[in-house]
Amino acid sequence: LRIFSGSSNPKLAERISEELGLPLGKIKVSRFKSGEIYVHYEETIRNCDVFLVQSFSHPINDHFVELLVMIDAAKRASARTVNIIVPYYGYARQERKAAPREPISAKMLADVLTTVGATRVITIDLHAPAIQGFFNIPVDHLTGLDLISDYLKSKNIKNPVVVSPDAGRASTAEKLANYLDAPFAIMIKKRQAHNESNITHVIGDVEGGTPIIIEDMIDTGGTIVNVVEGLKERGANDVYVCATHPLFSGPALQRLDHPNIKEVIVTDTIALPDNRSDRFTVLSVAP
Ligand code: R5P
Repeated sequence: LRIFSGSSNPKLAERISEELGLPLGKIKVSRFKSGEIYVHYEETIRNCDVFLVQSFSHPINDHFVELLVMIDAAKRASARTVNIIVPYYGYARQERKAAPREPISAKMLADVLTTVGATRVITIDLHAPAIQGFFNIPVDHLTGLDLISDYLKSKNIKNPVVVSPDAGRASTAEKLANYLDAPFAIMIKKRQAHNESNITHVIGDVEGGTPIIIEDMIDTGGTIVNVVEGLKERGANDVYVCATHPLFSGPALQRLDHPNIKEVIVTDTIALPDNRSDRFTVLSVAP
């Protein structure tokens, strides 16, 4: 068994290798001046079960193609199996046609990954769990919810109320609420455009409670801020924000500096720059 890291999240790959007591394999990943990607395994992987760690974080398209090149090189080097660990699977919000003449990009990525040679996928908190079925190879769909739940339980939050920011996250919120023995509420949001939405209704009672918002990802932070403000308007206390994948695009960091957010809890499926990780509680999915 050999583990190799792509360039998206080497720290997580190192943590995984420490957990396993197995050093990371040597691989050279570089770019030509033209931007084309070059990969060279600097040790034999013939007949090995190869595990490639690569998150689809910014710049997602580069990281995706880099993984394809890694898979191709592994296959051509006679690896026995090529297992891809994709902690954050991007393009997952395009998992169905919401309007005519749109792509289903999450499926297209699955097709490309398997055609190139991936034989197994390990991923965490897919935006839509049905994406597992887009692959004709085994998919281990893991979750960061246990880590987040245990962390929250250790904090003994008074009057917690678990909040799903939209109907899609309701079953996750229910699981967390059961684990914490807390009530839960669902926000109903209306989406005007990509990365733009507003809260129209709240199902459940949040007044006087301390909300714990549970999300799969924070991208620009727009959804979170709308939810936080919607909760405050309805008489809730300051809020804990939890999400597995910290994409943190565009204005996310400024938005998350919101006075009514007590703490932001995320995982390391996506690497945060060193000077930013102090501001957030980062739980490692490596174990
Ligand atoms: C959408 O359904 C997702 O679960 C997230 O709520 C959303 O994509 C987050 O995006 P943003 O942070 O830009 O609002």
